[in-house]
Amino acid sequence: MSAPATRLVRVAPTADIAPGERRIVEVDGRSIGVFNLGDGFSAIANVCVHQGGPVCWGRVEPRVHAEVMPGGEVRESLSPAPDTIACPWHGWEYDVRTGTCLANPRKALRTFPVVVRDGDVYLEIAERAS
Ligand code: FES
Repeated sequence: MSAPATRLVRVAPTADIAPGERRIVEVDGRSIGVFNLGDGFSAIANVCVHQGGPVCWGRVEPRVHAEVMPGGEVRESLSPAPDTIACPWHGWEYDVRTGTCLANPRKALRTFPVVVRDGDVYLEIAERAS
């Protein structure tokens, strides 16, 4: 079985999506958020798996990591880059890189490969079967 055909869809010049910023685009009737996380780009479907809310319009913030040390002390730290998005409708949170729901890792937003080439950001979109 062969891999599905894909095509690149230009989103914007890389300079137009600054670190911490996003661009929400329509591709083949699908709304997709493209995020500059500072150390790379990621793209997720703008459809929350809870009730279909516009998740890509939500706040993006660093994730809080907590570690219990020997003796019970809890040390908290923040992820180096903002990588967690909260849906503006009911607050479900997702990893922007993987689309995984933080509260329920069995649920995830659809993700799309991002290609940076010659100063532009592209989405790699699989062709739909006809
Ligand atoms: S629709 Fe996104 S949290 Fe409910």
